Amino acid sequence: MHRFILVLILVWQSLPVYAGELEVLHYWTSGGEAEALNVLKSMMKEKGHVWQDFVVVGGGGESANAELRQRVIQGLPPASAMVKGPDIHRWARLGFLQELDKLAAWQNWDDNLPDVIADVTRFDGQYVSTPVNIHRTNWMWINKKILDEVGAEVPSTWDEFEQVAKKIQARGYAVIAHGDQAWQDATIFESVALAVGGPEFYRRAFVENEYAVIKSETMMKVFAQFRRLKPYLKTDLSKPDWNIATEAVIKGEAAFQFMGDWAKGEFEKAGLKAGEDFICAAMPGTRNQFLYNVDTLAMFKLSDKADRKAQEDLASAIMSEEFQEVFNLKKGSIPARTDVDLSKFDECARLSRKEFHIAEQKGALLPSIAHGMATTARVQEEFYGALHDFMHAPEMNDRKAMVTLAKRMRYGSYAIN
Ligand code: BGC
Repeated sequence: MHRFILVLILVWQSLPVYAGELEVLHYWTSGGEAEALNVLKSMMKEKGHVWQDFVVVGGGGESANAELRQRVIQGLPPASAMVKGPDIHRWARLGFLQELDKLAAWQNWDDNLPDVIADVTRFDGQYVSTPVNIHRTNWMWINKKILDEVGAEVPSTWDEFEQVAKKIQARGYAVIAHGDQAWQDATIFESVALAVGGPEFYRRAFVENEYAVIKSETMMKVFAQFRRLKPYLKTDLSKPDWNIATEAVIKGEAAFQFMGDWAKGEFEKAGLKAGEDFICAAMPGTRNQFLYNVDTLAMFKLSDKADRKAQEDLASAIMSEEFQEVFNLKKGSIPARTDVDLSKFDECARLSRKEFHIAEQKGALLPSIAHGMATTARVQEEFYGALHDFMHAPEMNDRKAMVTLAKRMRYGSYAIN
């Protein structure tokens, strides 16, 4: 009888006490992204919770914000959502986010998160969001076989890039695989701006949104440099997704892609090795400068006790060293926690962490505007719109494009956020 009771107690203890439901808004649908997310899903399943995907299709999260707003207005927020940069503060200011300070103290987030990340994930001194990674957007990905075949080195300036591009074109390969979407144009544009104008210019234009810096000769030069890349962009209009462009580099149809390091998740999923099959390097003119894009899962206030427990488990799993390692090995990024060792990571990840620290010291660690880290979603929308006009409207010369950008960003900043 005693043994029977003991077995019952053991079985009861091994059962999840609170099986909660976790609805999570995200836009991780490519092969590499989905595999990385599965790490988190399995961890939550092991805890006995039920995972509910709230997927908003669209790379770069173009449509995610609007969907989230709708749900919150209806009084039905998900347990957690991918929210980035200043938008985290906006949700927190409106009182929708759950503070996570006890957990943060227990897992010692303060000592193990870089300042720029702690600053965006805290509001009024309290943590309200969990950073899963650090992505870098000013990367270029190169098919090594093509580069070797044309006998070229990795270009480190835009002039060198053009020389290499001409050789590649002469051999009949596409030069830059690119998806025709505003956020993808913006991803290239922000790195060109950093290369041409330098970190101070970037900060004043895209973080401080100084009108006189956006409406300037330097910004015109940025557009002029971007224009020089246009003939080398290979877009497949029927399939504009970023991962289709990555696939073209993987298959050896195109030599380059200018994209954040989520692209590396695709190379890895295809079994390709950094340094052997593909090369990662900072985009021309941006070595030791770092445009960061941090995915964070913000936790929305919930009323159900079991769901709240599930949410706590989610936050705690995300901030564990174990998750940060396994997830980022698949996602292409590096861990947000600086105490996670990179011995299992490849040379791109190690270069990323090295240049993150160098950039941090020299004032060249900057938030990505293309990925919602530098400004509000509203200003970002105008930024995208101006770039779209530049890419598609034939009358857009560099001056007109610069003036349009300045006016649209100023208009966006007037909107109530
Ligand atoms: C996100 C990445 C995502 C990429 C493509 C970026 O804005 O931060 O996590 O992989 O968009 O969807």
